[in-house]
Amino acid sequence: MNTPTARPSTLLFPAVNGLASEYWRTARQLGEPLVLAASVACDPADFGGEAVLRLPMVHDDSFTRAFLALIEQCSIRRIFCPVASVYSHLQAWLPGHAAGVELVGDSPIRRQVEQHRELMLRARSLRAWMSTCAGAEVLPEIEVAALLRQAGLVHGESSDEKLAAMIAIAASAPAGDLVEIGALMGRTALVLLYLARRYQLGPLLTVDPWLAAHAIHQESPANIGRLVDEWDYEVLAESFFVNLAPWPGDDHAHLRLPSAQAHAIYAAGLPLANRESVVVPFARRIAILHVDGNHDHAAVKQDCELWLSHMLPGGWLVLDDYQWAHGDGPQRVGDDLLAACSQRIERAFVCGKALFIRLGSDPAREE
Ligand SMILES: C[S@@+](CC[C@H](N)C(=O)[O-])C[C@H]1O[C@@H](n2cnc3c(N)ncnc32)[C@H](O)[C@@H]1O
Repeated sequence: MNTPTARPSTLLFPAVNGLASEYWRTARQLGEPLVLAASVACDPADFGGEAVLRLPMVHDDSFTRAFLALIEQCSIRRIFCPVASVYSHLQAWLPGHAAGVELVGDSPIRRQVEQHRELMLRARSLRAWMSTCAGAEVLPEIEVAALLRQAGLVHGESSDEKLAAMIAIAASAPAGDLVEIGALMGRTALVLLYLARRYQLGPLLTVDPWLAAHAIHQESPANIGRLVDEWDYEVLAESFFVNLAPWPGDDHAHLRLPSAQAHAIYAAGLPLANRESVVVPFARRIAILHVDGNHDHAAVKQDCELWLSHMLPGGWLVLDDYQWAHGDGPQRVGDDLLAACSQRIERAFVCGKALFIRLGSDPAREE
């Protein structure tokens, strides 16, 4: 990739930071011919061991000659520059020295500014409808943006819309446990943990066995089923704890078990501990239940039957993928619930493909 070539190539300069390795990784996958160069020593491991050519610093007298020689020798037509000061130098320098060479993308500073503006715009537009979800006041714009940003750093399957609705309903949830069935890498778990603390609701229990045998969707098309083989389940487990590690406390426990086995422990009142083996004081009454485990009909039905029996009056059920392209398990369970609990539903809506239901007290339990 880094040898002199007649193919028009992109120069990645200076290949020194995370933005550079991110560009390198994408270019490599897309087959874009790339030449790497830097003015300081860098770790070739960041670029899969590929050679990084050495160029003088942009302000050195020898820069012009060395740079133009490299452009000529490697047929450079584009430059990706991930360092703000070098970008600014090249932006002014290129037109007078190598007019046919394009500096691609925004400057790193502009990129940050734009990313932040887009985030705030997104938070603002979501916030505009969030209070209608739960009929309660929602978090300030800064906190909504912060949660979207943190959640966006974690791979997951919950959209911003679904997260926004989860943020909204927490404002009206009663005090009690938060339970999530299906945690993957922790995208929704970290939002739930924040909300539990913010509204002083109670501790969070996450449940996920991180095992292929449980993740497979028998009712989905074969190509969806096969996705389970792509995961490394130990990586999933480790990444979950990495993503949650910045928010330690005695208010989160994880059970690496299938939902039914985890439920048996929860329902029996057996002690549940955090990563430091400190017992987490669960109320065993649920304020928010997020059902996002296996989506086959029997699995969703079982999750709801088991865990909903602990729901507090005024608690919220979030049923993931009620609208789903790969199967109708969550929808059938959701529709049956809507019919069976119609007398006690205080609020219900669909957002980000998930069904949100706020359940009032269960007459059967009151007798
Ligand atoms: C759609 S992902 C969850 C997404 C996650 N809530 C997020 O925020 O990105 C589904 C997860 O359910 C888990 N799962 C599958 N079967 C399960 C079971 N019986 N009990 C608990 N979790 C299960 C899978 O391991 C997988 O991590």
